[in-house]
Amino acid sequence: MRLRPEEWQALRALEKCTLGKATTSAESIAKVSGQPIDRVNFGLNELNKRKLIGTSGRTFEIYISAVDLLALKFYADKDYANSLGKLIAKGKESDVYEVLSAKGDLYALKLFRLGRTSFRDVTRKRHASARQFNTWLDINYQAAHREFNALTRLAEVTKNVPTAVATNRHTVLLKELPGVRLTNRPELVDPKKALREVMETVREAYLKAGMINGDLSEYNILTDGAAVWLIDWPQWVGKDHPNAKELMKRDVGAVVRFFDRGYGLSTDIDALTEYMMGSGRFPAIRRV
Ligand SMILES: Nc1ncnc2c1ncn2[C@@H]1O[C@H](COP(=O)(O)OP(=O)(O)OP(=O)(O)O)[C@@H](O)[C@H]1O
Ligand SMILES: [Mg+2]
Repeated sequence: MRLRPEEWQALRALEKCTLGKATTSAESIAKVSGQPIDRVNFGLNELNKRKLIGTSGRTFEIYISAVDLLALKFYADKDYANSLGKLIAKGKESDVYEVLSAKGDLYALKLFRLGRTSFRDVTRKRHASARQFNTWLDINYQAAHREFNALTRLAEVTKNVPTAVATNRHTVLLKELPGVRLTNRPELVDPKKALREVMETVREAYLKAGMINGDLSEYNILTDGAAVWLIDWPQWVGKDHPNAKELMKRDVGAVVRFFDRGYGLSTDIDALTEYMMGSGRFPAIRRV
């Protein structure tokens, strides 16, 4: 797909106008882009024919496919992306695609899809403090930004998280990791060591970066059999969160119970939670 200059201009201005509200008018787009209204109307009409935007008479809205296109153009212009590869995974909250750069580097591009099932519902939710509406666009842009910042911060304290290379709009570009999710119950060289490694990473994130994942489970841990990586951080909370301890215990419990079911290892969840938060020792891991 090759867009004309009028289309790119109209699309970028439409995007700006619909951060903070769901729809906008051609007049607003003309104002923001500094382009004559006829040129804007032509661009909008073409974008609509390509099903990249929607219109109901005088108002216009941007579709997720158009936002994907803007982000992909960003990565292509920066030489991060030369071609789009296979869909690696379709999660609840994102689609992850393989991306190949001109230099031959392999990346995993995570495109956020929060509110995919019901964009309307997300659009209706107001942000608690702001007077503006938080549209699905805002929510997905914020999630990507939050995950990129989390991974950047975590990179300073551990090697067991994906490397975030760049972020744009609703996407995060990650170095592609080898391996599979723990849910696949892959054969582990040393299951005890893997459990320890996951837990030491959770502890470093907490003690050195002040972060709790908040959604940790076998779904968000990748492994190549020896190394482990903790992925999926947009919902992280800080150590001063009022439910910090509860969330930490949930993360610890989910991992411990999975290693019990999958690898026959058992340990004390309460003692391990204490250790994660800086007191006591790593409790004994027993074979069951
Ligand atoms: N850096 C990466 N390298 C390789 N694969 C990755 C990478 N990041 C994510 N994936 C794949 O994409 C899947 C989804 O990623 P992630 O968990 O971050 O998103 P999600 O939308 O929360 O998914 P889910 O709802 O399944 O938890 C992962 O389970 C993994 O298979
Ligand atoms: Mg996940």
